[in-house]
Amino acid sequence: MRIAILASEGAPYAKSGGLGDVMEALPSALSRIEGNQVVLMLPYYKKIRENPAYEVEQVTQFHVSLGWRQLYAGILRLKDRDDGVTVYFIDNLQYFGHRDGAIYGSLDDGERFAYFSKACLDALVALDFIPDVIQCNDWQTAPVPVFLKAQYRPLFPDTRCMFTIHNVEYQGWAQGDFFDDVLALPWEYRGCLDMNGAVNVMKGAIETADLVTTVSESYARELMYPYYAHGLDGVLSAAAWKLTGITNGIDIRTFNPETDPALPAHYNASTIARGKAKCKAALQEEVGLPVNKDVPLMVMVTRLAGHKGLDLLCYIARRLMWEEDAQLLILGTGEEHFERFFRDLAEEFPHRVAAKITFDLGLAARIYAGGDIYLMPSKSEPCGLSQMNAMRYGTVPVVHATGGLRDTVPGVDEKGKGGLGFTFQSYNADDFYAALKRCISLFRDDRAGFRKLQKTCMAQDFSWDKPAARYMELFEKMRNQ
Ligand code: GLC
Repeated sequence: MRIAILASEGAPYAKSGGLGDVMEALPSALSRIEGNQVVLMLPYYKKIRENPAYEVEQVTQFHVSLGWRQLYAGILRLKDRDDGVTVYFIDNLQYFGHRDGAIYGSLDDGERFAYFSKACLDALVALDFIPDVIQCNDWQTAPVPVFLKAQYRPLFPDTRCMFTIHNVEYQGWAQGDFFDDVLALPWEYRGCLDMNGAVNVMKGAIETADLVTTVSESYARELMYPYYAHGLDGVLSAAAWKLTGITNGIDIRTFNPETDPALPAHYNASTIARGKAKCKAALQEEVGLPVNKDVPLMVMVTRLAGHKGLDLLCYIARRLMWEEDAQLLILGTGEEHFERFFRDLAEEFPHRVAAKITFDLGLAARIYAGGDIYLMPSKSEPCGLSQMNAMRYGTVPVVHATGGLRDTVPGVDEKGKGGLGFTFQSYNADDFYAALKRCISLFRDDRAGFRKLQKTCMAQDFSWDKPAARYMELFEKMRNQ
C-alpha cells in the first residue's frame, strides 16, 4: 500500500511532545510491513536545516497558492534513513526556515500550517506519489482532508484520508475571514469549518476525513463528552461512526533497558534486581539525593502543564513528605508557577526532593530506569507514552484512570496483583494520595510482590507491531469504503 503520513513534527528531526515520538515510530513500523511504501512529510524547520546530520537533496520546487498568495515550496529528500521510510521536508524560509525557538506559537501559525497542508498535497502530485492513504495528524494538518475533498479530488481520485487526533485541546481556531483569505475554499465548505462564526480546522477534518482516529480507545469514548472534548463533543458524537481509538506503542528499540546507552547499568526482567539497584543508586547520586535502596524513589518526567495533574501533586506534596519516608524526583519544564513550586519544595526538603527544571533525554532515561514508582496523575491523557517507557524499565506506575492511562495501566488490587499499576478513578488529590500510599506500602511491606509487579510491567508488549497492524486494518477498510 502507498501511504503518505503528514505531520508538523517528527523525531528525531523536530519534536515538541508525544506527536513527535509517534511520527518517528509509526512510519517506521508501517514500512516494516511487506508491500508498504511509506512517505513522511515534515516542515523544514530552521533547526533541521542547520543540523549537519540531516543531509538532504532538493528533488523539486513549485509555488503553492494560498488565497491571493503565491508561495515557494522546495521539496527536499532526506538522504539517509535506513528503515525504508522516505522523508521529505517542505522548505519555505518565511514560514519555517528562518524562525528560531519553539515549533508552535507564532501569530501566523494558522497560515503556516494551512500552507504546509496544501504544499504536501502539491508535493505528492509533483513527486507523482499518489497514495492509497493519507494519514494526517492534529490541527496543523487538519486542512488536508478538506482540501482533498474540495479541490484535489481529480488529482487523487482514489486516495482515502485518515485524520488522527493526538490532543483535542489544540484545534486550530481562526477568525472567520481566514476561510476566504487563507484557505480560499469553495463557499459550501464554510459550514464544515464553522464554529460560532469562527474557523475551526479540526472540526473541518473530522467532518471531511474518511476515518477519524485517536490515540487510545478510552480517549475515543471520552471525546464524546464536554469535559474532555473542548467544545467538539457534539461534532465528535456525530462522527462516532467513523471514530476509532488505536493505542500508541513506544519505540522498544530506543527504550530498552538492556541496551540504552544513557544508563549506567543494563538489565532485563531476570537481572532487574542488580541492574536496577545500580541505576537507582547512580540516579540518587546524580540528582543529589541520599543513596538508599530502601527508600522508595517516586519519579516523574513531564511537561509542567496543568493537564498533567500537577495540581494534585502540589496539593499533597508536603503532606507526603511529612507522612512518608520517600523520595521525589521531577524532571521537566513548563508553566512557571509549577517550576517555582518544585524548586521551592526541593529547597525545603533537600534530602527528599530533587527538581530538575530542564529538558534532558539522557536523564529522562536514567529516571525511567532508576525510579521505583512513576507518577502520572494526568487530568486527561489522550494516550501518554512515558508511563509505557517507565513500565518497560520496571518502574511501577501510579496513574489517574483516564484516556490512554486507563488502557495501558490496568489497576492492581491491594496486593499488587491483577494489573500493572495503581490507579485512581476520580480526579482528586486524596484519591491520588491513597493510590500512592498503596503503592508505597507494597514497596515497603512486600518486596517480593513489588518485584513481581515490576517484572509483569516489563513483560508487556508495548511495541508498535500491534498498533501498526490496527492502522493497516483501518487503511484497508477505508479503501473498501
Ligand atoms: C499528545 C497527547 C499524548 C499522546 C501523544 C501521542 O501529546 O497529549 O497523550 O501520547 O500526543 O499520541
